[in-house]
Amino acid sequence: MPTLNWIGKDSVVNHHYHVPFHLLKDVPDLACGKPGGGNLIVQGDNLVALKALLPYYGGQVKCIYIDPPYNTGNEGWVYNDNVNSPLIKQWLGQVVGREGDDLSRHDKWLCMMYPRLALLKQFLCPDGLIFISIDENEHRWLEAMADEIFGAQNRIETLIWKKSYGGGAKSKHIVNLHEYILLYARNIDRISEFKLPPSKEVLKYYKFEDNKVSTRGPYRLQPLATNSMDPRPNLRYSIPFEGEEIWPEKQWQWSKERALAALANDELVIKKSKGKWSVNYKQYLKDGEGTERSSKPYSIIDNIYTQQGTNEIGEIFGDGKAFNFPKPSALIAHLLQFATGKDDICLDSFGGSGTTGHAVLKLNRQDGGNRRFVLVEMDPKIAKSSTAERVRRVAQGYTAPDGTKVEGLQGGFRFCELGESLFDKDGKIRESVSFGDLARHVYFTETGEPLARERVTNSPLIGTHQGTAVFLLYNGILGDKSTNGGNVLTRQVLARLPKFDGQKVIYCAGSLLGPDRLRAERIIVRQTPYEVKVS
Ligand SMILES: C[S@@+](CC[C@H](N)C(=O)[O-])C[C@H]1O[C@@H](n2cnc3c(N)ncnc32)[C@H](O)[C@@H]1O
Repeated sequence: MPTLNWIGKDSVVNHHYHVPFHLLKDVPDLACGKPGGGNLIVQGDNLVALKALLPYYGGQVKCIYIDPPYNTGNEGWVYNDNVNSPLIKQWLGQVVGREGDDLSRHDKWLCMMYPRLALLKQFLCPDGLIFISIDENEHRWLEAMADEIFGAQNRIETLIWKKSYGGGAKSKHIVNLHEYILLYARNIDRISEFKLPPSKEVLKYYKFEDNKVSTRGPYRLQPLATNSMDPRPNLRYSIPFEGEEIWPEKQWQWSKERALAALANDELVIKKSKGKWSVNYKQYLKDGEGTERSSKPYSIIDNIYTQQGTNEIGEIFGDGKAFNFPKPSALIAHLLQFATGKDDICLDSFGGSGTTGHAVLKLNRQDGGNRRFVLVEMDPKIAKSSTAERVRRVAQGYTAPDGTKVEGLQGGFRFCELGESLFDKDGKIRESVSFGDLARHVYFTETGEPLARERVTNSPLIGTHQGTAVFLLYNGILGDKSTNGGNVLTRQVLARLPKFDGQKVIYCAGSLLGPDRLRAERIIVRQTPYEVKVS
């Protein structure tokens, strides 16, 4: 398969492995509602933030939606749409080095995106999905790069979002009305059929009821005759009704057997008007098992427009210019509706005005779900005044500029900033690192599985994974806080560890047990800090 190359690529393809793990620092003043609800907003560069989030969410996220800067060359918006924000410029200088001087605008953008996408992939659960919004500026490069990272075989579709309905007086040649949303699976073989529930527009056609309403719901009428040009002689037959034989003009949609069974079951509605027979069948909202009819999403999304996103910002903040070109929450909700179940986690690492958080709360309200969101936004001002503030307002309710009181959607979030790295420049664990912080980190790097916050207890046995128990002796977890005292594996310490009959990995400051004892006890010692992965 052809692959994409660009200046700086060699410096970034493995960069995500070397990003150091940082701690997350709660900012309770910026939180909203119940902090334990599972929603989270993080302020910080998403490269570092994603690495910090991996021990909590790696392999757990069902749906990622990202809307990165499109690299339009516009730097005058609320956010920088180029790769020219001071932070990213500095990062490129450090990572790509001198070669960075030769980078074109596209090279820079690709260098910025590659390690971030590589990290995002690690968050997806086995049946996870990622949506990436993009326009014509970087679409062709992004698709080649995403094929490389996620695997071309996992590309499900490139959706076309028709974002506006007209205008474009300034366009010289073609009026561009659309952009793209790339959709990849973590593993396409794990993805089952996408299903969308019937929309309000469709539901209004289901206005009739008969005696099957309790099991099959209301029904709509659909013509049984078809104008299909494809002649199928077995579909041309007469239906006997009130002593007459009713023939289709061309043919029926169903076989004779099926039509006669429907007639006998009172599932056909046959009428005569102006001397002409019409035959309709009852299309019930639910099938025989009581499952509601669903449809599949289309590759073209054409009834949700950019203007709606701007209007939402205007309604929530009283000023449509408070954030430039936010996505409409209906667009993200549409994607989440077929990509997520009611308890899934959704991640957006280019948070902007918090549309993804808004869409998650909205969809939960609509279907009684308990989806959770994780949003990351680099710019401190945007993170606080747009991302968090928007989600707070839609969760708790707000007053629109015309005085209408808009009811809150409920829900809340924790707000975090990026704290220090786990290790100092000499590779030592920082003193400020708590037992819980290190436990989560050690467990994740040892097993590849995140350790949920609530699973960290006051025990040196931090978890078991595939028959192996992971222990951590740190900060005098057994009560001995003397320098290295309780953190060293001795006979006495071993006797006090929770019993586990199987392979044990013990992270500790040192071990005084001999190799024979360790083998007999099935213990692998990993010495802190040297054997703790730092990046
Ligand atoms: C196109 S906007 C996203 C808009 C968002 N979808 C909405 O509907 O409001 C891109 C956002 O990503 C942020 N951003 C850019 N680079 C980032 C990075 N490295 N880490 C985190 N956020 C970043 C920008 O500050 C900007 O707010």
